[in-house]
Amino acid sequence: MKPALPLHTHPVFIIGAGGIVNAAHLPAYQLAGFSVQGIYDLSYEKAAATAASFNIPQVFHSLEAMLAAAPEGVIYDVAVPGSAMLSVLEQLPAGARALLQKPMGENLQQAQQILALTRAKQMLAAVNFQLRYAPYILAAKDMMQRGEIGALNDVEINVNVYTPWRLWDFLYTAERVEILYHSIHYIDLVRNLLGNPVSVFAKTVKHPAMAQLASVRSNIIMDYGDLVRANILTNHCHHFGNEQQHAYIKLEGDKGAIKIDFGALINYPHGVGDRFYYTVANGNGYTEWKELPVEGTWFPHAFTGSMAQLMVAAETGARPDNSVEDCIDTMACVEAAYAASQQGGLPLRNFQNF
Ligand SMILES: NC(=O)c1ccc[n+]([C@@H]2O[C@H](COP(=O)([O-])OP(=O)(O)OC[C@H]3O[C@@H](n4cnc5c(N)ncnc54)[C@H](O)[C@@H]3O)[C@@H](O)[C@H]2O)c1
Repeated sequence: MKPALPLHTHPVFIIGAGGIVNAAHLPAYQLAGFSVQGIYDLSYEKAAATAASFNIPQVFHSLEAMLAAAPEGVIYDVAVPGSAMLSVLEQLPAGARALLQKPMGENLQQAQQILALTRAKQMLAAVNFQLRYAPYILAAKDMMQRGEIGALNDVEINVNVYTPWRLWDFLYTAERVEILYHSIHYIDLVRNLLGNPVSVFAKTVKHPAMAQLASVRSNIIMDYGDLVRANILTNHCHHFGNEQQHAYIKLEGDKGAIKIDFGALINYPHGVGDRFYYTVANGNGYTEWKELPVEGTWFPHAFTGSMAQLMVAAETGARPDNSVEDCIDTMACVEAAYAASQQGGLPLRNFQNF
């Protein structure tokens, strides 16, 4: 249930000292014993405050100064908003190793530019889609690898919570919100479990109480043909207390099923504990649900996995599981979801010729 970990120590330089770096990257790296050597943010004060909290020895006034001080084998952990990603990457040297915070740019076009840039500069680049490495997902993958639930034929991610989007200023000017910044994790997870879908259906809508934001509620169907169902349903606007909030990932195979109630989003940002339930049918229709204790959670523990992938790749020369080459397809699914939503379903009037 542990992610693949590197054999050696790799110095890490962080670009961006915002909420996610403080809440998840650095706590995870401390737990994993990763060596963060320097940090830079457009706001020197934020970088300095973060460095003080996490004992980071070097704080830089500019990206140029950071690049000039880069030690051999440094890994750049780039955690800036999607809109700033390309310009930061353009400044990194050829051959750089970089972990890019998701999303991979703000749309597929930017993702393609990022991919082209990382190829042209021969960078070792991966994307921080870390739900793939959340301890409960690793536990589910373990069970699936052992064949315990059989062949996966149903994936459902269902979220009904209240998300205080005001915590992220940049979302108020973003053209896309829910799928690009949130459901993208679930799309990436589904791809990680089932591979690429044949097509994507979606409808994503705004909310009257959050009209200043782009769409914040989504239904996404990832189409894997006639025998496999993969659905993502998210409502971030359930402002009716915590009692009926829920967030689960359900996986059904032909021999058993797993249901993960993940707590990070409930009563956000406080969260509640996760619960991992599973059942293995005995073939006579008898199913008994059991609970598996899982150590660690999405925030911060999963962040070890996405960084470790890059470090292991730097050691082995293999492509990381979360490489830009793989993650571009998550961006393609996101683009397809927005396009499908805009295109709309079949008009009812086409069926009202009676
Ligand atoms: N689960 C996740 O992986 C997860 C969770 C939250 C946020 N994120 C992503 O992380 C990114 C940052 O989110 P956040 O919540 O930390 O936002 P934030 O607004 O708290 O922090 C962003 C930081 O980046 C800095 N910055 C912006 N442009 C910069 C540049 N060119 N060079 C250096 N620093 C720059 C800003 O000054 C700010 O401190 C977003 O893209 C968001 O989608 C990912």
